[in-house]
Amino acid sequence: MAELSVKSALVLAPVLLIVSLSLTARDGGKEESPDLPRFTDKNQLLPPEHYREWIFLSSGFGMTYNPSTATRNDAPFDNVFVNPPAYKTFQQTGSWPDGTIFVLEIRSSASKGSINQGGHFQQDVRGLEVHVRDGHRFPEKWAFYEVTGNNHPASPIPQDASCYSCHSAHGTVDTTFVQFYPTLIQIAKAKGTFKAPE
Ligand code: HEC
Repeated sequence: MAELSVKSALVLAPVLLIVSLSLTARDGGKEESPDLPRFTDKNQLLPPEHYREWIFLSSGFGMTYNPSTATRNDAPFDNVFVNPPAYKTFQQTGSWPDGTIFVLEIRSSASKGSINQGGHFQQDVRGLEVHVRDGHRFPEKWAFYEVTGNNHPASPIPQDASCYSCHSAHGTVDTTFVQFYPTLIQIAKAKGTFKAPE
């Protein structure tokens, strides 16, 4: 038995070495966390690959910001995720630290399918929008991006786009829409970081 485990250790050691070498090589030898924003040297953002394993904040269905629009039957869903390190800081402070990254995933909806008789369910991804905080990189601290599923780096959306004005005028914590993320509202109120929504 003892001899057997020595033998299997000898067999396994080179395998483990190769596995650990290839994991390091994949990141170019750098210690990069998949839970933090990754940029190129031109402030382009690499699409976050594992956002589906992050903290889920909420889903919106057919949300619209125009008073005269009725909710369409085929309106999309959106799902909001935030990276775990930022979520942890938020729980302690009610504020978002540098390195915060949100993903808003837009999915088409359907109401007919399988056994469903009423209501709506989610379908394919239609778009990914990202909101990142990095006070060293961006003079305005936050930047927005639209990314695609195919790992291409995305350039920041220009600061005069409506993303920035709507988020800064109506977001209740910093430039984020915490008023729509039910698990965060009480934390922000308790920490005194919640602005009255407009
Ligand atoms: C008219 C207002 C408005 C505009 C313009 C707008 N958003 Fe938002 N955004 C919202 C609201 C409301 C939410 C909350 C969504 C929810 O609850 O599901 C949100 C949430 C988000 C989130 C999730 C994180 C956060 O900040 O709360 C991202 C990412 C995002 N928007 C990206 C964008 C991008 C990119 C643009 C520009 C292309 C944009 N938004 C333009 C209103 C706006």
